Amino acid sequence: MTRDIGVGLISVGWMGKLHSRAYQALPSVYPELGLRPRLIHAADTAADRVAYARDALGYARGSADYREVLADPEVEVVSICAPNVLHRELGVAAAEAGKHFWIEKPVGRDAGETGAVAAAARAAGVATSVGFNYRHAPAVEHVRELVAQGALGRITNVRAVFFAGYAAEPKGALSWRFTRQLAGSGALGDLLSHVVDLVSYLIAPIAEVSALTSIIYSERPILPMGSATHFAVIEDGELGPVENDDYAATLVRFAPTERGPGAVGTLEASRTIVGPQCGLGFELYGTDGSAAWDFERMNELRLCLGRSGPHQGYTTVLANSHLGDYARFQPGPGIAMGYDDLKVIEAKKFLAAVAGGERRNATVEDAHAVAEVIAAADASAASGAWQAVPAVPEATFGREPAPAPGTGHG
Ligand SMILES: NC(=O)c1ccc[n+]([C@@H]2O[C@H](COP(=O)([O-])OP(=O)(O)OC[C@H]3O[C@@H](n4cnc5c(N)ncnc54)[C@H](O)[C@@H]3O)[C@@H](O)[C@H]2O)c1
Repeated sequence: MTRDIGVGLISVGWMGKLHSRAYQALPSVYPELGLRPRLIHAADTAADRVAYARDALGYARGSADYREVLADPEVEVVSICAPNVLHRELGVAAAEAGKHFWIEKPVGRDAGETGAVAAAARAAGVATSVGFNYRHAPAVEHVRELVAQGALGRITNVRAVFFAGYAAEPKGALSWRFTRQLAGSGALGDLLSHVVDLVSYLIAPIAEVSALTSIIYSERPILPMGSATHFAVIEDGELGPVENDDYAATLVRFAPTERGPGAVGTLEASRTIVGPQCGLGFELYGTDGSAAWDFERMNELRLCLGRSGPHQGYTTVLANSHLGDYARFQPGPGIAMGYDDLKVIEAKKFLAAVAGGERRNATVEDAHAVAEVIAAADASAASGAWQAVPAVPEATFGREPAPAPGTGHG
């Protein structure tokens, strides 16, 4: 039996288009779910983007005001793809309207805003998903399984980075991402949030953090909202100040796991790096093996399983049907999947949770736990001191929730 799901979209930028394409692809990639997203109503304050949503993406209706999307009775789920400054207002409003929502990371400008969105979703009992798309890469899902099975032994230390070059050009546009009021932190919230989610998904939540940050370019040409992306270069524009971090480095201590004391590691992010372009990657080191992955080579996984024998050192495994959802996209090994495919998997996890199926989605509770790490890193960068990260018990990162203290289990 087919179930129609009415979709609303708030903000038709890069992510808004990508969510829409993911909904459109879902029925053909996951036909057995019987889910048929219907693109009903899109809103954006830029009129040309509303027209694009109707004419090119195929939404039945378009509005300048997001409230019209939330008030639309045909809309059952909403994609919230607006700049960070609006996440709190939009997430809370969607929950109060009883709409399930898929919201982009980092879900607000700070941990207080993310927590407010998570609390509203919990109170309303709506399903949520967050745009932590890198989790879904088949190689990453496989590493998660290897870690959970103990194939790498106890994870002792981790190196993970997100080195992006989108602001490497000094005349790169001063989009909303570079102001505290519109974005919150810089590389920390924009890029390190992905890294924190990824390593928390693979290993365990982060318990303590120490950080330093820096601004590489203190001024940039101003970009009007909704007129281009943050990749734009403006030659002779009026300059405005960059208010948040271009680069962030952290030392972290993970919570203990059933295999022993928590791992330690370094996590770094930069938006001004020259060289890596979208270099999100990790190296996990365990007592019995290691795994390394980099998004720029998304379809390759480097593995070393065991300490001895004839095959010591890394082996490169190409993506294949044994890893994650790879077989949904490609019929044979070594045929590359891409970034957009990760959003199709994310749409599937979201709508499966909405329809009462498996709950493998990244939730706003997970985003809240990530935001607490980012907030602790921001505070540590200012104070120079280590910061404990407040635990978010509702966050599971896809694992069974820990038993409540004093229940005698575990
Ligand atoms: N998951 C990922 O890998 C990933 C990648 C890029 C961006 N993001 C996140 O997605 C979100 C959006 O980023 P983007 O790159 O798509 O931005 P973008 O600048 O491309 O688009 C933002 C859109 O929001 C619209 N907008 C502004 N104010 C609005 C309002 N009041 N109501 C409705 N629309 C409004 C703008 O007109 C514009 O069309 C951000 O939170 C960002 O952090 C996530």
